[in-house]
Amino acid sequence: MSSSQRRLLVTSALPYANGQIHIGHLVEYVQTDIWVRFQRMRGHEVHYVGADDTHGTPIMLRAEKEGLTPKELIANVWKEHKRDFDNFLISFDNYYTTDSPENEKLAQSIYLKLRDAGLIEKRAIEQAYDPVKEMFLPDRFIKGECPKCGAKDQYGDNCEKCGATYSPTDLKNPFSVVSGATPIKKISDHYFFKLSDPRCEEFLRDWTQVKTPLQPEARNKMKEWVGQPGDRKLGDWDISRDAPYFGFEIPDAPGKYFYVWLDAPIGYYASFLNYCQAKGLNFDEWVKPDTATEQYHFIGKDILYFHTLFWPATLNFAGYRTPTNVFAHGFLTVDGEKMSKSRGTLISANSVIDCGFNPEWFRYYFATKLNDSMEDLDLNLQDFVARVNSDLLGKYINIASRSAGFLVKRFGGIVSDEAMNNPLLKEIATASDKIAELYEGREYAKALRTVMELADKVNGFVDENKPWEIAKDPEREADLQHVCSITLEAFRMLSLYLKPVIPHVAAGVEEFLSLSPMSWSDINIPLSSKNPIKPYKHLMTRVEAPQIEALLAANL
Ligand code: MSP
Ligand code: ZN
Repeated sequence: MSSSQRRLLVTSALPYANGQIHIGHLVEYVQTDIWVRFQRMRGHEVHYVGADDTHGTPIMLRAEKEGLTPKELIANVWKEHKRDFDNFLISFDNYYTTDSPENEKLAQSIYLKLRDAGLIEKRAIEQAYDPVKEMFLPDRFIKGECPKCGAKDQYGDNCEKCGATYSPTDLKNPFSVVSGATPIKKISDHYFFKLSDPRCEEFLRDWTQVKTPLQPEARNKMKEWVGQPGDRKLGDWDISRDAPYFGFEIPDAPGKYFYVWLDAPIGYYASFLNYCQAKGLNFDEWVKPDTATEQYHFIGKDILYFHTLFWPATLNFAGYRTPTNVFAHGFLTVDGEKMSKSRGTLISANSVIDCGFNPEWFRYYFATKLNDSMEDLDLNLQDFVARVNSDLLGKYINIASRSAGFLVKRFGGIVSDEAMNNPLLKEIATASDKIAELYEGREYAKALRTVMELADKVNGFVDENKPWEIAKDPEREADLQHVCSITLEAFRMLSLYLKPVIPHVAAGVEEFLSLSPMSWSDINIPLSSKNPIKPYKHLMTRVEAPQIEALLAANL
């Protein structure tokens, strides 16, 4: 790929370092990874970076509870997260941490640029304070009785019993979750990013409504949030927290720390900077305005606000380029309901591996559910078993096992060259542009449906030609080689199309067919005598229904 080669920086949201990776998270990392692997197959220059999001009060308190320093805790969690991503074949080029020297420097310099642009303001605000623990309390660390129904032990923002929403100051008999003390009110100086500044408003209106091809749902939400000129809808953003806080200190304000959401997205750049330094890439070439490079963030719909308002504004007014686009996905439910600990459906990535599941089953299943919208997607456990067994095994893998044996045993693993002109093979190759377009547009469900329709046709071809019967007739040797060659070449092409989704199986196919790693343009380079077929070994096994029970039990 020469002149049309694109240069892409791609990220997934940085998972919090206070918990395990679960299958809900995996939807996002799998979605991103499929896109990244597809772009690599197209021959583009792609850099995919991630990191753990390590700062903030919950992590600080959890470390204390476990008798660790926050740095010890996040080092342990990093290893677990990295293990999970590796298991699920998430192909990060760099997986880093937001608690890095690169991130501290970048966050501080970005803050100073915003300050110098006149966009930072100091203001005193009143907040809940734990007089025993001597710290300010984020809303989720205050509990009390619901002001509406009186239910005990409710969080500061809404009641789980009656559904009422309110503010923590409305709670009756409030207490600090940290020490049990009754919170008091205390005044403290906070630093604000002045998003209400007309420059920010104007920039964000243009960025979200004109400049960036956001998903329609995202654009509409932003339209509401940004409002019409003169509406002054955007509030200023509180970017500081008081000590004690696990994070980066603000350069000109001792005892004040950057709120975790200020340094978290900067962590994308810090991870990339760390990678550029290791690989000798020119970081500036990617992050300065007017660069020809592209930058994409994959996120869940819950953190849209941070990525389409705060993050572009931060970048723009600190003199950086802004994202080319932000792609938001919906939330994963299990059997139609929110994942829940008590039903065993809050399924950790690690338990999936421990219970002997093939991670590519999940990659495939999620892909059959993913499109370019922000709608939620459901993991239906029965459907999961059916899809994997009937599509992946029954329709796709089965093609190879049905034809490889004859070729290897009777023809030394050599395909017939004229077989490659078969119309069925032409038809499969012709789908390449359409499938590429669907991957590009994150319409994976449609891409896979197209591939499975082609697989149906290949199976139809096998059923019609019945190689097992031809094989009985010694006069029809040539026919047998012809039919099996077509079948295996079809299998090669389907494997190429599925490679972004099931890269491990695809690598097995490359080995089996003596191919070098397939790129997208190899669709037009058929098997030949240079690729002797090796004896067929299992590429993937079926999922057994009882495994599902075991998985749910493991997560109770
Ligand atoms: N730390 C922040 C992101 C900072 S990005 C600069 C965060 N972390 S998270 O661990 O809560 O979530 C990480 C990603 O996983 C988010 O994009 C979130 O939307 C996604 N998901 C978390 N639960 C999910 C589901 N149940 N379903 C789909 N995606 C889910 O947010
Ligand atoms: Zn209530």
